[in-house]
Parts: sequence; structure tokens; C-alpha cells
Amino acid sequence: MASVSLENITKVYPGDVHAVRELNLDIQDGEFLVLVGPSGCGKSTTLRMVAGLETISSGTLRIGDRIVNDVHPRDRDIAMVFQNYALYPHMTVFQNMGFALKMRKVAKAEIKQRVDEAAAMLGIESLLERKPKALSGGQRQRVALGRAIVRQPAVFLFDEPLSNLDAKLRVETRAEIKRLHRELKTTTIYVTHDQEEAMTLGDRVVVMRDGWKRQVDSPLNIYRHPTDRFVAGFLGMPPMNFLEGHLESGDDSLWFVSDEVRLRLHDAQPEWLQGEARRPIVAGIRPEAFDLKQGEAVDGGISATVLVVEPLGSMMDVYLQRPSGEKLVCRVTAGELEEGGAISAHVSPQDIHLFEPNEQGDPRSETYYGRNLAVGVPQPV
Ligand SMILES: Nc1ncnc2c1ncn2[C@@H]1O[C@H](COP(=O)(O)OP(=O)(O)O)[C@@H](O)[C@H]1O
Ligand SMILES: [Mg+2]
Repeated sequence: MASVSLENITKVYPGDVHAVRELNLDIQDGEFLVLVGPSGCGKSTTLRMVAGLETISSGTLRIGDRIVNDVHPRDRDIAMVFQNYALYPHMTVFQNMGFALKMRKVAKAEIKQRVDEAAAMLGIESLLERKPKALSGGQRQRVALGRAIVRQPAVFLFDEPLSNLDAKLRVETRAEIKRLHRELKTTTIYVTHDQEEAMTLGDRVVVMRDGWKRQVDSPLNIYRHPTDRFVAGFLGMPPMNFLEGHLESGDDSLWFVSDEVRLRLHDAQPEWLQGEARRPIVAGIRPEAFDLKQGEAVDGGISATVLVVEPLGSMMDVYLQRPSGEKLVCRVTAGELEEGGAISAHVSPQDIHLFEPNEQGDPRSETYYGRNLAVGVPQPV
């Protein structure tokens, strides 16, 4: 077991492609850390640098106390699991799982014991004599997991291991990976573009964009206090609604105003914002923060009509259109709602995030990227 530390890690590919920029991360011994972000944001490159499959342009990488920038992948004490399983087709499951140990000249009896143990852990004992082509996708990924477990590495690295599985199997295998981590407590770095996987698996989640680290925290803290508009929109499904407008002060309160919408803001806004009346601003509202009343807008509700209702069992997603043409998505308890009907959409002041409208400047600076001005929704008092 080991900690992993990345200090100012940068990767520039030929052609001046800045894949990873000055990345600082301290992964604790035993932690499950998830790197998440859209395609091309630098997740795989980061993981491959930790694995030693990609050179590091600058910065310092440590596994445990050892600087490993120039250590061969074989000697880093890591095991990696890929999206495409990367099993040896001509070997049986047993041989696939035991191969790395055989290369290390581990005694046959011990190889058998470790493979049997891992196979039992994954419920694939009956598959040990099969070749990969005789396995389903889910079984192949279990074998790939087993091959990593057998090595008893200090660190597991996963690169989108569930992406090739169908939805049901993906959820099952996700739970399996979580259980394995609880049992083995091996330090894990897990890459995915799927925000739900990140939220459900990670002790901590790193949200990346364009090679930059945008936020690192527990899934719930990121969900409740996204550092900027990008992070706010990336985590959560359906995504957060954004309304463009401006601030106004009056009635001993700050208000968010956009067309006919007038929303009272929570009292606990930072003091400096009070002096910023008429400032352009973006309000962020999660779909589940809405309370919908049928009929014309009342009591400060947002006026809208129902476009589409998507039932989800106990909940439903309701797509609304405001008179301005802007759309809103709401997730509410299932009930009767008529498509085309008038709606009054209500949101509590403590559920309104406020973001800087401009997405520009230096990503490391406080003013970049639709920064969350209230540094998260103020906590209800
Ligand atoms: N071998 C390579 N040569 C040049 N550019 C690369 C190479 N691998 C990845 N890139 C580029 O680096 C950026 C990050 O890629 P990658 O780490 O694979 O992103 P992700 O895994 O988040 O989708 C992308 O712009 C990608 O096109
Ligand atoms: Mg990738």
C-alpha cells in the first residue's frame, strides 16, 4: 500500500498539445480517488504517467516516499485495468491471472493460491480453464480485475474499466469494485468520463478540464459547493439549470432578476456582493431544487409551461419553457402534470447558486470560469 503524490505534473505532447497542466494531487494511502471530466481533458494521460506508460514533461511523481519519474512501469508496484481488458487471447483465465507472478518467478503453489483467492473474491472460479474468447464482456472485465488483484500492488489504476459494459452490468461491476476496495483497501486512482460513476465510487473526486484541475473534494461537497459553472454543470444529472440575469437590491435583500423572473436570494450572501447591485450574474438551480405548482405563477414562482414529462418511477423529470423561450429541467416527485399546462416553479433562496457569468482568464485565478461567487450555496440556518 502506498500514497501517490503528483507535484506540478505537466504533460506536453509533440505539437505543443498541453494534455496535463501543473497538476498537484496528494492521494492518501488506501484512498479511492476518481479523475473525471469530458473526453480529452487529460485523465488518461495523468493515469498513464502514474503507470509509467507515458513520460512526464515536468514535475515530480512519488509513489510512497520514492520519486518514480524515471522508474520502469514494472518496478512501480502498480496494476492497471483498461477499458478493453487487454487479456492475452491464447492463455486461459488462470494463466492470464497468474502471468505477472510467473514472470516474477513466484513459486507455482503460491501462484495457484493467489489466483484461487482472487477468483473466489470475484466469483469466477468456474472460468479458470477458459480462454477469453469464451467469456462475456462482464466476465472478461472480472478476469482483468482478478489479474490486477493477484499482483497485490501498492496502487490500482483504472482507465474507464466499465465503459464497454452494458448499463446493468456497469452498475453491478461498479458495486463490485467498491466492495473490493473496501476489502483490499488498496490505493486506487480511477478514471471515468461518467459523473455518476465518479460520484458513487470516489472518496474524493478530481474534476478536470482542458488539462486543468478544476476542483478536488468529496463527491457531496463538489455537488453542494461546485467551484465554478463548469463543475456545477458537469456533476449531477439532469444537469444544473443556469439563468442569466443581474443582481438587484431592495426590501432588505438581494434579488436575482432575469426577464420576468425575480428570485429572492438567501440573506447569507458575502458582504461584498451586497454592493454589487445590477451586476450581471448567473443563477444555478439544480433540477431537484424545484417545487412545481400547477397554474399561473404565484408568490414569486417562475412562470413556465410544461413541454415534456419523463416519468422515472417514483420521480419524474419535467421540462419547462419560460415565456422568454429558455428551458428549465426539474426533477420532482411523480404526479399528474399536463403537457402544455401552465406552471409556477418555486425555488428556495438557499438552493440558488450564483456564478460569475464570464468564462475567461487564467484558470488558476479566482476570476476564471464562471466562478461560484457565493462559494457554494449558503447553508440553511
Ligand atoms: N499520444 C498522444 N499524442 C498527442 N496528443 C495526445 C496523445 N494522447 C493524448 N493526446 C491529447 O492529449 C489530450 C488529453 O488526452 P487524454 O489524456 O487521452 O484525455 P482523456 O483521457 O481525458 O479523454 C487530448 O487533447 C488528446 O488529443
Ligand atoms: Mg481517456
